[in-house]
Amino acid sequence: MEFLFRHFFLFLSKNKWLTNAAKRYGLRFGASRFVAGETIGQAAQVIKELNQKNLDVTIDYLGEFVDNEIEANEMAEQSIKAIETIAGEQLQSQLSLKLTSMGLDLSDEIVCTNMKKIMEAAKQHGVFVTIDMEDYARCGKTLELFKELKKEYDLGTVIQAYLYRSSKDLEDLSAYHPNLRLVKGAYRESPHVAFPKKKDTDENFKKLIKMHMQNGHYTAVATHDDAIIEFTKQFVKENSIPSDRFEFQMLYGIRPERQAELAEEGYKMRIYVPYGKDWYGYFMRRLAERPANAAFILKSLFKR
Ligand code: FDA
Repeated sequence: MEFLFRHFFLFLSKNKWLTNAAKRYGLRFGASRFVAGETIGQAAQVIKELNQKNLDVTIDYLGEFVDNEIEANEMAEQSIKAIETIAGEQLQSQLSLKLTSMGLDLSDEIVCTNMKKIMEAAKQHGVFVTIDMEDYARCGKTLELFKELKKEYDLGTVIQAYLYRSSKDLEDLSAYHPNLRLVKGAYRESPHVAFPKKKDTDENFKKLIKMHMQNGHYTAVATHDDAIIEFTKQFVKENSIPSDRFEFQMLYGIRPERQAELAEEGYKMRIYVPYGKDWYGYFMRRLAERPANAAFILKSLFKR
């Protein structure tokens, strides 16, 4: 049953018509639990509150299905505005972004030009940028562009534990000394490219954490899963990994008590804070991860 729910929400997350309708009608159906607002001003307020609780942030201006140059350039401008706000308001925040929203599906030239503009602003203001990882079809291209940009700028990207290719990617990337966020993976993928069973993804996740930490590279363990968190705590203790070589990351609105606990225990804890009008696809992926969250939707439908 859970499998069907998951596929249902992932299917809905790709619906262009619903994506556009959601942009027009604003944050609805309990989405504000996971999305920090529609404007950078609202997001900055949320970041300040998190920073006061000793939680660092990575901010993401939401955007899906960008299919023209004007929109891709506008997305890049919004990311630059976010960088300037982080610097101007002295927020403890990095920036995360998706290459498809910068024009990855349009042309190499558009995505490269937009990324270079963003990376120049990030360098000028000292804001670290992470390129999120999207679906398998874009994984190779994302890593190629990451490597290209890494020659000139300090930036990070994401490796997904559900993909068979990930341990090989981690080895290939090692020469670049990358700061990587390790995650389970959030998209609907074929069993030809991704582990269909959660158990295998979890085992691969642990293997990737070990590999990346043992290689001496900065590791962000991005999960809400206590088993993986406990594994990481044990591994860093046994292998004397210094506390400034890794961090935990979680999504805004998911397990906030656990986020606070980890920060109180002295671990660096970073919260991924999305904002913007294009909240629909992100929200559907969060529901797919935990169909129990769909109960909110039903409740909010009946709320006046
Ligand atoms: P898992 O799904 O096994 O959940 C473990 C437990 O966490 C659950 O039992 C539940 O208690 C809680 N939980 C998980 N999801 C929840 C939810 N939606 N609502 C309420 N509780 C929930 N993916 C990707 O493909 N590309 C990317 O770039 C990123 N980036 C990213 C950044 C950060 C900071 C995080 C935390 C995650 C991502 N992800 C991602 C998403 C990631 O791939 C994955 O889909 C989610 O983190 C859920 O997997 P967990 O590791 O939390 O474990």
